[in-house]
Amino acid sequence: MDTLVINGKKRLSGTVEISGSKNAALPIMAASILAEGEHQITNVPHLRDVRTMGRLLANLGAGFHLEDNRAILDCTMITNFEAPYDLVSTMRASVLILGPLLARLGKAKVSLPGGCAIGARPINLHLMGLKKMGATIKLESGYVLAKAKRLKGASIYFDTSTVTGTENIMMAAVLAEGKTVIENAAREPEVSDLANALISMGAKIKGAGESLIEIEGVSRLIPLAYEIIPDRIEAGTFMTIAGITGGDITIKRCMPDHLDALINNLQDCGIRFKKARTGIRVIGPERPLAVNVRTMPYPGFPTDMQAQFMAMMCIAAGTSVISEKIFENRFMHVAELRRMGADITIEGGTATIRGIDLLKGAPLMATDLRASASLIVAALAAEGRTTVHRIYHLDRGYEKIEEKLQTLGADVRREKE
Ligand code: EPU
Repeated sequence: MDTLVINGKKRLSGTVEISGSKNAALPIMAASILAEGEHQITNVPHLRDVRTMGRLLANLGAGFHLEDNRAILDCTMITNFEAPYDLVSTMRASVLILGPLLARLGKAKVSLPGGCAIGARPINLHLMGLKKMGATIKLESGYVLAKAKRLKGASIYFDTSTVTGTENIMMAAVLAEGKTVIENAAREPEVSDLANALISMGAKIKGAGESLIEIEGVSRLIPLAYEIIPDRIEAGTFMTIAGITGGDITIKRCMPDHLDALINNLQDCGIRFKKARTGIRVIGPERPLAVNVRTMPYPGFPTDMQAQFMAMMCIAAGTSVISEKIFENRFMHVAELRRMGADITIEGGTATIRGIDLLKGAPLMATDLRASASLIVAALAAEGRTTVHRIYHLDRGYEKIEEKLQTLGADVRREKE
């Protein structure tokens, strides 16, 4: 297992280029199941989760090859219909093959993802939607067994906005008979990117990016030739790095429109944003101001940025209150930040962070992807040396993280444990 060693308290500056979005790449790779032939997806990040999705698809009979951020998937032969426990247990997003497999083969067997570090994360809404479309669903020995001769369009209402739930139903509906309407659909940019990818395959989808999505089923789709959007959470993470280190970072290949809520909050913290020729320039203040945030489904403040924002609030001037409204247990980073001297108390889903002058380097343990990112953000501003253990979590979602940080002047290196 690798460890990251960071000597902090350096003002980071320079240019960083954002990779393709993990959470857009995963469903779009799963969408390749929907059409025979060779699919080409570009701007795919080299990440552990992307390789896991590749293995999952290869296990179904697809050819998978990833080179220079181009994924080539040959889905002419899909012979298997099972997502086994050992793959699903390493990546919950494996559940994204449920909808496309049902649409293509009329059957799917997917291991039920268990709870994870950030919450219980059930998939009842995915299953409810598929049932409404005529699938029979059985739960047996830890697996979801789903069957349907041909799925039928249906009217589906989600009482909670769910990103992968919306994506699964959208992928099931594109080849279904008739029209599917999803109410209270997730509006995240990754959902819109999947919709655009499906439309490029010949699907008929209206309203993606809004809370009402209409899908008219078609009988056949053509293979993908599609470029993934940049990762808004990676971009947001570098924005907080500029903020916490008083840095001056130009972020290339970023879509600031996808980050309105975060950018508004960062501006309230005293961080300045300027349009640059090649991207967006982010200039951190001497010391960030404390700002309260609450996570919400898009276009609200993203839960995937909560931990990194909290790291920055640890050294802010004043007291900040952060409410986590999406996941019930997404404060795993707090205990580690406290080991660096942070003054944080938690009550239910609310954390109160009283800003201190300086964090101190310490040995830390990464627990999930965004928690790991927050520890890196904190370590970059901390005095002395921080070692972050178990960074395989970080490698699930951040491409070439230490190289990118080194380019900005950070003293960071990877060590084998
Ligand atoms: N929920 C249910 N039932 C369901 C589905 C969801 O109750 O059937 C609840 C969840 O427990 C949660 C809320 O609905 O409280 C929202 O969860 P959602 O389904 O939207 O999350 P997800 O689709 O499992 C995706 C991202 C996450 C991101 C969340 C929220 C992917 C592959 N994952 O997860 O990304 O945090 O949306 O924006 O797109 C990450 O990248 O670090 C990550 C965790």
